[in-house]
Amino acid sequence: MAGIQEDLIDIESAGRSAIAGAASVKELDEIRHGYLGRKAGRLSAILGRLGGLAPEQRREVGAAANQVKAALEQLLDDRSQELSAAELQDRLNRERIDVTLPGRWPARGALHPLTIVAREASSIFAGLGYTVVDGSEVETEWYNFIALNIPPHHPVRDEHDSFYIGEDLLLRTETSADQIHVMESQSPPLRILSPGRVHRRDAVDARHSHTFHQMEGLAIDRNISFADLKGTLEYFWKAMLGPETQSRFRPDYFPFTEPSAEVSVTCVQCAGRGCRLCSQTGWLEMGGCGMVHPNVLRNVGYDPEEWQGFAFGLGIDRVAMVRYNLSDIRLFLETDLRFLYQFAG
Ligand code: DAH
Repeated sequence: MAGIQEDLIDIESAGRSAIAGAASVKELDEIRHGYLGRKAGRLSAILGRLGGLAPEQRREVGAAANQVKAALEQLLDDRSQELSAAELQDRLNRERIDVTLPGRWPARGALHPLTIVAREASSIFAGLGYTVVDGSEVETEWYNFIALNIPPHHPVRDEHDSFYIGEDLLLRTETSADQIHVMESQSPPLRILSPGRVHRRDAVDARHSHTFHQMEGLAIDRNISFADLKGTLEYFWKAMLGPETQSRFRPDYFPFTEPSAEVSVTCVQCAGRGCRLCSQTGWLEMGGCGMVHPNVLRNVGYDPEEWQGFAFGLGIDRVAMVRYNLSDIRLFLETDLRFLYQFAG
């Protein structure tokens, strides 16, 4: 019997130090199992041995064993509470969310300013009955020059120093090439707008780029006059840049129009008084226009006696620069996100 009681004392003190040293709830569960578990528990093993004792001793040792059991259970419960509280605290610390941190913005795309301008212009012209078409950036000499009344060695070709990518294949220097495609494939009357990218071998500076953007307009019908052209563009500029915008047409020369004009609008910054943006002239040049040359009509098989039309080519980059008050055309191609995000709507 003395052996059993000593064992009980051993078990209790070993149990106490094991419980005190447990580092986690999981470890504590193992200890509980090791001491109090029904089958494998050390204390249960002792209780199993009680049967071999005399009834008197059995009661005594049984009571002692129950005390040890109760003591260990109490310790286990206390320690378990302590440990789970610590574990919870630890988890709360680890998973803490600082709700005062500024949020992270989802990366949102934004339309390029040139796209915004081209879409707006397209929608204005669509309202006037124009169909928006998309031309090809690679053209043959026929579309880019010859059909537009620009034969080989014509001096205007010097201004359109081009990127050739083959014997008779070049990057278009003007969206005017699209006029020919449209007229070749459709019968009059027609009205189209073709916005797109063009390329010239120009030295790059704040106002020039090897790659820029134009929108080409073409209207073919019977009895179209220069007044229709003026009215159309005047309406467009007011819709695009504001109702106070005035337009100015001055004689110019283009091989594919006759007569031809340069079109300007009142400077958006000084309202025509004169400032740095408009070089003190009060006007900003936006593109060229004119009545379609009879040779161009003949080149696509239209009879100039029956059909007339007007055409215009406007600089999209120019419109965007004026609209957003930008002084450097290079910004459009530099893909600098700090610049581009300013246009996110
Ligand atoms: N293609 C001309 C250029 O790039 C602009 C232009 C002028 C287009 C007159 C036209 C036009 O359609 O009629 O400089």
